[in-house]
Amino acid sequence: MKSIWMDSTLIPRRNSLTGNKRTEVVIIGAGMAGILTAFYLQRHGVHVVVLEANRIGSGQSGFTTAKITSQHNLIYHKLEKSVGKESARLYGKANQLAVEEYGKLIKRYSIQCHYEKKDAYLYSVQESKKLLEEVQSAKELGMPASFVRETKLPFPVCGAVRFTGQAQFNPLEFIKEISSGITVYERTKVLKVQGHDVITDRGVVKAEKIVFASHYPFVNVPGFYFAKMYQEKSYVMELGPVEDLEGMYLGVDKKAYSFRNYDGKLLLGFGSHRTGKAPDTDPFITMRHTAEHLFHQAEEFRSWTAQDCMTLDSIPYIGTFSAFRPDWYVATGFGKWGMSSSMVAAKMLSMQITGKRTPYDAVFSPQRHHIKASALRFAEHGLESVKGLSAGVKPGAVNCPHMGCRLIWNQYDKRWECPCHGSGFEISGKISAGPAQQSLPFID
Ligand code: FES
Repeated sequence: MKSIWMDSTLIPRRNSLTGNKRTEVVIIGAGMAGILTAFYLQRHGVHVVVLEANRIGSGQSGFTTAKITSQHNLIYHKLEKSVGKESARLYGKANQLAVEEYGKLIKRYSIQCHYEKKDAYLYSVQESKKLLEEVQSAKELGMPASFVRETKLPFPVCGAVRFTGQAQFNPLEFIKEISSGITVYERTKVLKVQGHDVITDRGVVKAEKIVFASHYPFVNVPGFYFAKMYQEKSYVMELGPVEDLEGMYLGVDKKAYSFRNYDGKLLLGFGSHRTGKAPDTDPFITMRHTAEHLFHQAEEFRSWTAQDCMTLDSIPYIGTFSAFRPDWYVATGFGKWGMSSSMVAAKMLSMQITGKRTPYDAVFSPQRHHIKASALRFAEHGLESVKGLSAGVKPGAVNCPHMGCRLIWNQYDKRWECPCHGSGFEISGKISAGPAQQSLPFID
């Protein structure tokens, strides 16, 4: 399954690692977060090596809808209540600065990546109360928010939260340019990390500092990310031709859609469920019906799925990997907001690694404890993990190599998926998503 970005962007191949190397910083993962972190570290004069198990941008950065926005669903009202006004303000500021930083980079380096300034909208067809609450909180926190009654969507809405000054682009065209001066070893799989040694299937890289930017960290201890993060899937369909909707849209109602244009086409997004809990009905058929109804002239091109790491309090984990490993760093848990979060992570980690602090360190710290904000998801995640583990010991179970949970067959995506932490495997058993590191034995 390939996304529109993967089919339309050719990133030059890089060699695999040969033998052992030494560097100041090694980054595991050549997606948006890893490449941007390497880019800023190099600008600070740091020697960096990036290791990638597959190809540059071949992970979740290639499956995103690539909205560059600080509008992260109905988050500001929620954060204001759960983590307090100051932390919510810093979260918003870090992300809005990240949105603006993309624009500056693209202009400064004349990057051709279909970058377009677009307003972002959260709409509802059912009620405006929660939208108005979000506008009020977001505005008080300094975000560029306003309430509008009408949009260019092809159906009436009760209202929408508009964020001005946001943007969209082709993420792989951007990564292609930004990674051009960075040392990346592709097809180099990290097997384990021991102290300052990153052991791969091609050799060992010794580094003073190590950054885990490979989506879901595969090291269980220390860090314990498996206890505080799960994954969610969503579905994307490419349709065309479709007129420009003059914005990027996300519905806040249950079973709502997202919309963004690209090059005369439309990327229709739908569905969001815990990975390993397949939906009752085929999401692609549901989307097809909606597309026929709303855009009856449009033809369907590709469709794909995206998978996102969800934290317990909805804030990414960016900072030191664990109190026991001060030289390891992590960038994960971006939710559905990988573009702005990747930039936040890159800016923060490049400062931290070079010995500087940022005003955002405490808010994004992986060692934070937002008990009130995390309580509900902590209970749900714990319950799902216990269910998955107990099902894993039953006879006939297909077990996940990560921690042994029972895998579920997703008939719509044709993959084995783990309900505990979201690992995925093709029908052949080949691993397609971590935190598991190994493939399954062949399954008929
Ligand atoms: Fe953790 Fe499967 S991903 S047990």
